[in-house]
Amino acid sequence: MIVANWKCNGSKKMIRDWVKEFKDTYILSDDLYLGIAPAYIHVEHLADSLSSNDLDIKYGVQNIDLSNGARTGAISLDMVHDMACSFSLIGHSEMRNIYGETNENISGKLDLIDKSLDIILCIGESAEENLNDKTKEVLKHQLQVLNDRNLDENFTIAYEPVWAIGTGKTPTSEQINEIHNFIKDIVQSSSGSNTVPKVLYGGSVNENNAQSFFNEDFVDGALIGGASLNGNSFAKIVNLYNGVD
Ligand code: PGA
Repeated sequence: MIVANWKCNGSKKMIRDWVKEFKDTYILSDDLYLGIAPAYIHVEHLADSLSSNDLDIKYGVQNIDLSNGARTGAISLDMVHDMACSFSLIGHSEMRNIYGETNENISGKLDLIDKSLDIILCIGESAEENLNDKTKEVLKHQLQVLNDRNLDENFTIAYEPVWAIGTGKTPTSEQINEIHNFIKDIVQSSSGSNTVPKVLYGGSVNENNAQSFFNEDFVDGALIGGASLNGNSFAKIVNLYNGVD
């Protein structure tokens, strides 16, 4: 599973260029879940471009609000369904840090979405927590939102150390593998379903380092910010994942 998180970037022109670059580089391969989360305002434009170019890429959103109604600036689950989105990111560290997203909010959003969309729950420790050897403790706390939940195939986790996002720094692939194994264990023992979720790695993934992460047993794909803004780079990473570069 490889998902692009475009954050607050992009334009109609960028989408046109992106699709062309992606098609120039992408080597078609079956059965891989490929997704893009553009800004809400570009979802339908992206959807049209993908379908008119016969690209089997799902599109989704970067967040959903807890309800509709008097919530200025928000986008509701109904609106996301109305745009025929396949998935939503939930709990991205930028939502936690800039907009004050809490475990309680996240839990409410998971209740709301339930099985109606694919969910990518983002978790990760800060630089300070990492330095103080608190990574596992922090992840365990963030994963409490899954306690006794009946998880399904629609549920994926993205491990994104905050200090690795957009910085060019990453943990080693061995460290990532160990954390992913830890996450899978915690989720398996705390959720009501015994499901082992897919765990993606996110944080400064690019075409030069992606292969080393993909070689690891417990890495089931990537959530990619900066490097996904260029269709060419994103396609190169997808080709690496597919082993067809
Ligand atoms: P990055 O962002 O690839 O630019 O580090 C990843 C993310 O925030 O999802």
